[in-house]
Amino acid sequence: MEEPGPHQLRMLQHFGLTPATDLPDIGCGLGRLAFECASYLDDDATYTGFDIAPVAIEWLKENYAPRLPGFRFDLPEVHNERYRPDKELGPEEVRFPYDDDSFDMACAFEVFRHVSPDGVRNYLREVARVLRPGATAILTFMAIYPGEHEVRHAGRAFIPVSEGVYSRFPERASTSMGYALALIREMLVEAQLEEFDLLKGSWHDPYMEFTPLTHGCDLVAVRGP
Ligand SMILES: C[S@@+](CC[C@H](N)C(=O)[O-])C[C@H]1O[C@@H](n2cnc3c(N)ncnc32)[C@H](O)[C@@H]1O
Repeated sequence: MEEPGPHQLRMLQHFGLTPATDLPDIGCGLGRLAFECASYLDDDATYTGFDIAPVAIEWLKENYAPRLPGFRFDLPEVHNERYRPDKELGPEEVRFPYDDDSFDMACAFEVFRHVSPDGVRNYLREVARVLRPGATAILTFMAIYPGEHEVRHAGRAFIPVSEGVYSRFPERASTSMGYALALIREMLVEAQLEEFDLLKGSWHDPYMEFTPLTHGCDLVAVRGP
């Protein structure tokens, strides 16, 4: 399978990313997508990385931001059991530091695995708020499909913890979360995000045929209000 950075860029291009796009990357991590965007986006486009991991954001601020005028990196002070245990503000309370209607497209790759249900609900509302009218967001989840039972990933089962909510590590908060597809859809509707495509993740089926649009996690393409 392709490296994650080039693959993410290609998925975004498939769903409408152009070199002129203003793109926030929610949970940008160490900059795998930022690296690809550095040679893809035009000078007047913008890439905004947003992540709670200080090491990642500090490194990106130091090494990317000075060389790439349209690139900005933000470190919200948000609690996460694994990445930011010292912070009090939960993801359910965060307001993204961006104005309403300020982006052409948004993405969140492999982030909601680390976010509580109320945090996901808030992040989806925030994505809807910062998108320009009708703009696209690409969001990935570990989605549990109807009829799937005792679902496992890398040998470890997703254990139900509440209605539609699963975790591979139920003893640790917000770690390796799975969400029932029905709950994801309910949360999207609540946030006024309209689903227009869903790619089932290859993690469900080791024998799934690989195509250029095969993604590891379940990928939902939505339109903002
Ligand atoms: C599996 S990594 C994915 C990183 C990147 N999107 C990629 O695909 O390379 C998950 C990232 O989500 C970030 N994260 C976890 N909780 C977050 C939150 N509440 N808000 C923003 N980022 C978060 C982590 O710090 C980590 O960098």
